[in-house]
Amino acid sequence: MMSTAKPAYAQTDDLEAILVSEAAIKRRLKKLGADITAAYGKEEITVIAIINGAILFSADLLRQIPNPIRLDCIRISSYRNQTRSHGKPQLLHSLTLDIANRHVLLIDDILDTGKTLSVVVNLIKKQNPASVRTCVLLDKKGRREVEFEADFVGFQIPDRFVVGYGLDFAERYRNLPCVGILKPHLQNPPEWA
Ligand code: IMP
Ligand code: MG
Repeated sequence: MMSTAKPAYAQTDDLEAILVSEAAIKRRLKKLGADITAAYGKEEITVIAIINGAILFSADLLRQIPNPIRLDCIRISSYRNQTRSHGKPQLLHSLTLDIANRHVLLIDDILDTGKTLSVVVNLIKKQNPASVRTCVLLDKKGRREVEFEADFVGFQIPDRFVVGYGLDFAERYRNLPCVGILKPHLQNPPEWA
């Protein structure tokens, strides 16, 4: 017989609050998918997901878009186990698909200082795509250091460190189905207390 006992530890215990519920994400993805489909018409889309953060969001969002899609991933690092980004984003793994004359949709988990997306958009533009649009699940508008707006935004959120649905702290919590604020004492160093 299956045990019905609660596990001793749930990752949600580490959250101060849930900011975006699983149900809210599901609802928003349907609308975002429709907005993206309307913007591209019948065009094929070359999707570039910034991994690891955009993996869960991209996987669910792409299933809301009926267009033909080519998928590639790019790996950028800027955080290294801390809650604030520092330094210039590093390109760790580059594209494998040819994007010249293609309609590119770049997907990331969160738009924070704007450094990551502006660096990546500039790299992509050098390869002469037909168009480049950007889509993020979350937008922390108040934290921008570089001027940047995404074309498609899931949710505007306040200036708090969040985890879940792809977003991590030191590679943990990505598999939470919701987005929540990590308890300040679990952030090392504690910068948001
Ligand atoms: P930006 O370059 O400062 O805009 O940061 C974008 C990247 O920072 C995202 O791809 C995330 O990996 C990371 N990031 C920014 N804010 C958070 C957060 O609250 N939780 C987890 N990761 C974050
Ligand atoms: Mg990331």
